[in-house]
Amino acid sequence: MSPLPPVLTIDGPSGAGKGTVSRIVAHRLGWHYLDSGALYRAVGVAASWADIDTSDASALVRCTFDTRIRFVERGESLRVLVNDTDATDELRLETTGALASAIAAIPEVRAALKERQRAFRMAPGLVADGRDMGTVIFPDAPFKVFLTASAEERAHRRHKQLKEKGVSVNFDDLLREIMARDARDAQRAVAPLRPADDAVLIDTSGIGIDDVVAKVLGLLPSPEA
Ligand code: C5P
Repeated sequence: MSPLPPVLTIDGPSGAGKGTVSRIVAHRLGWHYLDSGALYRAVGVAASWADIDTSDASALVRCTFDTRIRFVERGESLRVLVNDTDATDELRLETTGALASAIAAIPEVRAALKERQRAFRMAPGLVADGRDMGTVIFPDAPFKVFLTASAEERAHRRHKQLKEKGVSVNFDDLLREIMARDARDAQRAVAPLRPADDAVLIDTSGIGIDDVVAKVLGLLPSPEA
């Protein structure tokens, strides 16, 4: 039996830089990329399109099984199609993040997405970005990273990003939302946000993306080795 392709898991709270770092690292390595948060967000969007209430767990579980989610490369950008509709922009909204976080606390929703996530493990390798990649989805991954940054730093980054997009949000509201989401993700009964025992912790506060990428790539054997 051929060995399973390698996986590099990159977990951490929202705004720690996981998405950017994971995409760059995957590109440098020529590996596949899994944005697991996008799957939870996609279910959230599909549920809101279908007017499903976040308190209706059984309808949300059914929705998770029924929702078609596809990642499609269009030029430089990766688009996410939810039931064949491009939902990429809606996926990035703060309201969708909050919805995803509420849905992600339902154990059956997590179970329903497990195999879909594992299916991304393909040669030559996978960079998997999320909250429980190293603890639950790919516990056998040979390379695991946990990225952190203070809540203030993460709120500043998000504030700057939104401002650049012309979206005006109140910094204090953003900070409160980030802290509330962290607390929900860390305190939920299933797959709470925590580093895997064998993950390497990297605090990205005050460090530029290039340095974080270099640190992460430094964990993997060099191609010549
Ligand atoms: O990473 P992102 O902000 O897109 O994730 C949205 C939400 O989905 C998170 O706040 C978290 O509640 C949930 N999530 C999760 N497990 C993952 C990825 C995301 O519970 N592996």
